[in-house]
Amino acid sequence: MTDLTVLVVGSGGREHALALAIAADPGVAALHVAPGNPGTWHSWPSHALDQLDGAAVAALATEIGAALVVIGPEAPLVAGVADAVRAAGIACFGPSAAAARLEGSKQFAKDVMVAAGVPTAASRFCRTPQEVAEALDAYGPPYVVKQDGLAAGKGVIVTTDREQALAHAAACGDVVVEEYLDGPEVSLFVITDGTSGLPLQPAQDFKRVGDGDSGPNTGGMGAYAPLPWAPPGLVDTVMERVVAPTLAEMTRRGTPFAGLLYVGLALTSRGLRVVEFNARFGDPETQVVLPLLASPLGQVLYAAATGRLADVGPLSWRDESAVVVVAAADGYPGTPHTGGAIAGPRLYESADNVHVVHAGTALCDANLVAAGGRVLGVVATGPTLQQARDDAYKAVADLDFPSGFWRGDIAERAAAGLIPPVTTL
Ligand code: AMP
Ligand code: GLY
Repeated sequence: MTDLTVLVVGSGGREHALALAIAADPGVAALHVAPGNPGTWHSWPSHALDQLDGAAVAALATEIGAALVVIGPEAPLVAGVADAVRAAGIACFGPSAAAARLEGSKQFAKDVMVAAGVPTAASRFCRTPQEVAEALDAYGPPYVVKQDGLAAGKGVIVTTDREQALAHAAACGDVVVEEYLDGPEVSLFVITDGTSGLPLQPAQDFKRVGDGDSGPNTGGMGAYAPLPWAPPGLVDTVMERVVAPTLAEMTRRGTPFAGLLYVGLALTSRGLRVVEFNARFGDPETQVVLPLLASPLGQVLYAAATGRLADVGPLSWRDESAVVVVAAADGYPGTPHTGGAIAGPRLYESADNVHVVHAGTALCDANLVAAGGRVLGVVATGPTLQQARDDAYKAVADLDFPSGFWRGDIAERAAAGLIPPVTTL
């Protein structure tokens, strides 16, 4: 279908990146964003909206004549907003609440992986401090403790300090304790209609707040794609050993997963393991994967949302690399310092191969200020990873954001060829 009117739901950097890529599809006639952020407000019609209110999203989609609704974040998906949109007779890219449990509950995801024979870390579901202590001792350090429910990327602790692991579990309620996985991490996004799956380019995220992977976990401080060090066959292997059995298991349970299956992997010395599933595009990996996509994203998502993905051939890609560096507000991932002024070039208009994606920004008397933890993403593309990285960091240095900070080492080791090759998949 062409002449699509598309509504993107969400307000973060991922939704800004989705809007940019969907708007670039010549088959998309109009794009709306709700509620969006100052970056999207600048470019597309926007609508104030409670994104967790399925009836409100469906009503807005009907009012603007949307043929396709794309739901960005996990919270509305887990709350059933995609179900409400579909019930109103509008195609929606995003899984049902039942299928979004793959992200909404770590324990549910583990059950599905075990039933589907998908390689993942051994784990135990723990409800009491004693169960946690026994599980920690069974797996040994480093300890991995995960809050069962949604936690905006901050529910997981990986530590060698047993007391800290116990304290995190006590603060979380029900947790999953699991064995530690070594090796580099990969994010692979798969667009699916529940039956067919189309993989995007693999990317790597930087989860820890500080350089050299120091400090606590965040939602993600930067990313790059594709992965020059990835072993050949990585994507095919993940499609075969992870995605196909997971989709089949979800269908067998009567809750097919249609939308974006985010496969978070660790390429360990013993072979690949799934670290987590998410039910939506990753943030900030989306900011680097979508600028490389040459296929028309709006039409591909529409095909997935209408069960016709098998008609879409493999996706095509630009032969380039992309890097995003996230600028966060001081204090993040603790309480961020909000209200700090942001100035600089390119805050609204892309120049050459560089653009800025807004996430936690707000307008205060027409001035741009920080309003959340992750505030902006500076994205650059280039013929090589090194060049994309250099351009991204040059543009970050042009930002005037005194109450913000960023990592200095996004994609550094990969661009320098320092990531050891992975031999076992
Ligand atoms: P998750 O929310 O499950 O993706 O966990 C967030 C981050 O914690 C992951 O991206 C990893 O960096 C780290 N992590 C999670 N599980 C493990 C594990 N079993 N072993 C090592 N690191 C992990
Ligand atoms: N970048 C990690 C996530 O989106 O969950």
